[in-house]
Amino acid sequence: MILVENLKVTFKTPSTDIEALGGVSFRVEAGEICAVIGPSGCGKSTLLYVLAGLLAGFEGKAVVNGEPVKRGRRKTALILQDYGLLPWRNVFENAALGLELRGLPRSEQVAKVAPILDELGLREMQRLYPAQLSGGQRQRVAIARVLALNPDLLLMDEPFSSLDALTRETLQDNVLEIWRRTGCTVVLVTHSIEEATFLGRQVVVLSPRPGQVVATCKNAGAGETSWRRDPQFHKVCSFLREQLAGGTG
Ligand SMILES: Nc1ncnc2c1ncn2[C@@H]1O[C@H](COP(=O)(O)OP(=O)(O)OP(=O)(O)O)[C@@H](O)[C@H]1O
Ligand SMILES: [Mg+2]
Repeated sequence: MILVENLKVTFKTPSTDIEALGGVSFRVEAGEICAVIGPSGCGKSTLLYVLAGLLAGFEGKAVVNGEPVKRGRRKTALILQDYGLLPWRNVFENAALGLELRGLPRSEQVAKVAPILDELGLREMQRLYPAQLSGGQRQRVAIARVLALNPDLLLMDEPFSSLDALTRETLQDNVLEIWRRTGCTVVLVTHSIEEATFLGRQVVVLSPRPGQVVATCKNAGAGETSWRRDPQFHKVCSFLREQLAGGTG
């Protein structure tokens, strides 16, 4: 589903050139959850922007579903950390925004959005506005909005980092359920070792900037909610912690 080969991104600023990604290669199979982990500033967000087709100035290869990345691929969804909800629209209207932009009539919007709001536990909150919601609820609305568009590739940039531990785990469980139901490919960027280990069937570890792949870890246990409590889970976390520490010298 995703093929990245020797991907390099350099930002040119008036004073200096900043090399964000220094030759990154990995691949993600269709239907796999891949977690990307690395220290702050190593180019994780940059990598997602390239995959989303939002950043054109790169060297190397970035292919999604057999085609070079391009802006506006309809089946790619991007979820950012700060939700991006419109404050003057209620939960339902925010969740249906993408469908409305595509010109779907209201009845079809309801048919598509209602089951997703159910799945994410938002049914009772449909008429509330973002300001009346907790952080976890807002993030769920943002997830509902992209799911309504039926993506085959879900790109998530530290989606749960501002949430408390319990809310975070609930949302991670939600992501697993969605992944099981839809079979979509997921690339999740995170700085949390536990989150990467819990969700990533494959975990790509990046070095400090300019980001390079330090390790690619197959993590067959991921995909079940019970994995968090498995003794093996903690071994994978320790392994990743060592890889990250090695990367920082
Ligand atoms: N538009 C830009 N212009 C110049 N430099 C940039 C730009 N975007 C990112 N950078 C630089 O590129 C590097 C990688 O940034 P990026 O946001 O991808 O890191 P990150 O791994 O997502 O970090 P974090 O974990 O803190 O979110 C950083 O050093 C950043 O300062
Ligand atoms: Mg980032």
